[in-house]
Amino acid sequence: MDIHSIKTAARENFAGSCRVCPVCNGVVCAGEVPGMGGLGTGAAFRHNIEALAECRLNLRTVHDVKRPDLTCRILGLELDLPVIGAAIGGTALNMKGAMTEQEYTEAVVSGCRNAGTISMTGDGPNPIVFDSGMAAIHKEKGWGIPIVKPRQTEKIVELAEKAAAAGCPAFGIDIDAAALVNMTNAGQPVGPKTGKELEYIKNHTTIPFIVKGIMTPDEAEACWQAGVDAIVVSNHGGRALDYTPGTAEVLPYIAEAVKGKMTILVDGGVRSGVDVLKMLALGADAVLIGRPVIIGAVGGGKEGVEFVLDQYKAELHAALLLTGTAKVSDVPVEILW
Ligand SMILES: Cc1cc2nc3c(=O)[nH]c(=O)nc-3n(C[C@H](O)[C@H](O)[C@H](O)COP(=O)(O)O)c2cc1C
Repeated sequence: MDIHSIKTAARENFAGSCRVCPVCNGVVCAGEVPGMGGLGTGAAFRHNIEALAECRLNLRTVHDVKRPDLTCRILGLELDLPVIGAAIGGTALNMKGAMTEQEYTEAVVSGCRNAGTISMTGDGPNPIVFDSGMAAIHKEKGWGIPIVKPRQTEKIVELAEKAAAAGCPAFGIDIDAAALVNMTNAGQPVGPKTGKELEYIKNHTTIPFIVKGIMTPDEAEACWQAGVDAIVVSNHGGRALDYTPGTAEVLPYIAEAVKGKMTILVDGGVRSGVDVLKMLALGADAVLIGRPVIIGAVGGGKEGVEFVLDQYKAELHAALLLTGTAKVSDVPVEILW
């Protein structure tokens, strides 16, 4: 298995829903939601890529870092690399059924585990999305993190308890899905949450609570005040609101507000181990990757997912050596130019 054969197979299986471009940057697929692109003009997706591209690293090789440490501890979990599979739902709608929801979640949850890390799973108007994620997590004895839509608060608590009963180490909500009309149209209303509602969810659940889709320091601070354990700095891969900045642009300001007080995860346009290192230098504790994992799964099943993650690991290892960074758990901002 190599990346070329994975991409070729993925391109075929996607049947046009993703062109598997040489650089996955949201240009060709702009506006393709449903689909694999960014919403509207696709600006928010592109900003994710551009913000990371703007960020430069100092090459340093006169130092004593010979065996960098890629392991990290996130929400009490020991991971071999600071890269987590992002929550993805809706294979029928977004990937023209390249895989069933069940095939997809099994490939990703198992592939991530085999690579020494963990995956989140998604949610949607069709219960098959959440249920397939849970089934895949069950198969891996609870090793997965379900992310549910910002449904009615009691419903979130109910699904979080299902996750806890399955042995999941955490659960979350993608709060940036607050305006998802296909949920509301299906009689499952979603919406923004107040700090008090977040606090209620935290106080009525038993496993760590993640809020995914935070883009401003004040909202990160509000999550912390509500007792939220981790945030994901995310614009939903550019699929929630057109024209948001790139996540790498807002991350340093959010880190300034809450770094060390709660876990900071980030996603959006992370396309290599070098991008992972940039996000860590900008203040993240770990990153999520979405579309590259999808391509791995659609092109190579769970082995494809593992292959993609191994590639990130190798690139991150080299980037640590070439910036003189001893460990991913302590990346100094000074490695940025
Ligand atoms: C096809 C597709 C489906 C997604 N479904 C979900 C979902 O169900 N829940 C969620 O929290 N995020 C969902 N996301 C967003 C991802 O979790 C993640 O935030 C985003 O893909 C990261 O950007 P990247 O793809 O550039 O790495 C989805 C993204 C895509 C592309």
